[in-house]
Amino acid sequence: MSNAFSWFVIIGTLGSLLAFFLILYMNRHTSNPGKTTGHSYDGIEEYDNPMPAWWFWGFVISILFGIGYLLYFPGLGNFAGFGGWTQVGALESAQDDADERYGPLFAQYAAIPVDELRQDAAAMRMGRRLFATNCSVCHGSAGTGSEGFPNLTDHEWLWGSDAEQIKTTIMNGRVAMMPAWGPALQEQGVQEVAEYVMQLSGREVNAELASAGKSRYDMFCVACHGPEGAGQPMMGAPALNNEIWLYGNSRLRIEDAIRNGRSGQMPAFAERLGEDKVHILSAYVKSLQQQ
Ligand code: HEC
Ligand code: HEC
Repeated sequence: MSNAFSWFVIIGTLGSLLAFFLILYMNRHTSNPGKTTGHSYDGIEEYDNPMPAWWFWGFVISILFGIGYLLYFPGLGNFAGFGGWTQVGALESAQDDADERYGPLFAQYAAIPVDELRQDAAAMRMGRRLFATNCSVCHGSAGTGSEGFPNLTDHEWLWGSDAEQIKTTIMNGRVAMMPAWGPALQEQGVQEVAEYVMQLSGREVNAELASAGKSRYDMFCVACHGPEGAGQPMMGAPALNNEIWLYGNSRLRIEDAIRNGRSGQMPAFAERLGEDKVHILSAYVKSLQQQ
């Protein structure tokens, strides 16, 4: 907060307290106790009596409490307060408490191999909650994904389906590198190779265009997508020889992927969640597999 704004807050806050006190003080005494003010409504008269003492002191105590509060907690502009309280500190101590309480629970599961853990109903309930909090924004609440965000319930994997590969994906994140081929292939080349990719996936295509596309594919694409288009988990390159598409199945979308490249990014969770929670999540992701 800027200095000027800080002073604005300080003066506003202390000024209100002071005004409050003055109003209170001025109403402490009255000029003629026991007499009426002369106001009379339907025969009901108003007496000019001072506030009851308990009420007056109630106000005084709340003003003093307010001042003490403002001295202890940060409430006056940039003044940090003498208590050393911060929002970040409060959050951290709550997190430490939670780690202390639940840490052993997570650690106990960390010793169980992923393939066994996925059969454990209590661990999977925990996994579902962790997934809902950390993963569902991108992968959907059921893990079925959407365009650009992979479906975790099917049998197609960019980065591999082994427990270790999945754990590495979640711990360290992944950055896919599909280069843009537009400049190298030109428009004609993009269309030809897209035709061949569609043939790989089993669609009816223009055979002439596809065979021109194949020679380009063998030159530019096999390194990552493999000779039969089966994909390559080391590179995060998806299989192209089936009807599962990360970025849409239309000719337009496939050509677009080839022309402009793609770079999907899975964030790393090692720091945010720690290995024990990632272990449970890996088992949960495996449990999502349709049988
Ligand atoms: C350096 C490795 C690499 C090369 C070479 C490469 N790709 Fe890719 N490709 C990838 C990766 C990685 C992805 C996944 C991108 C992502 O997840 O964001 C991908 C995605 C795609 C997709 C989108 C698939 C989907 O499911 O939506 C198509 C289509 C594609 N590549 C075609 C090609 C073609 C055609 C060539 C050759 C001209 C090629 N790729 C060359 C790595 C490569
Ligand atoms: C900000 C969005 C985002 C969040 C949050 C996110 N992911 Fe991902 N995730 C992605 C993207 C995008 C990819 C695909 C990367 C690529 O294109 O290669 C991915 C890929 C993956 C993969 C690899 C899929 C494959 O086919 O190999 C797994 C497993 C995964 N995520 C699990 C998780 C889990 C578990 C969480 C929660 C802890 C999570 N993700 C949170 C965006 C996200």
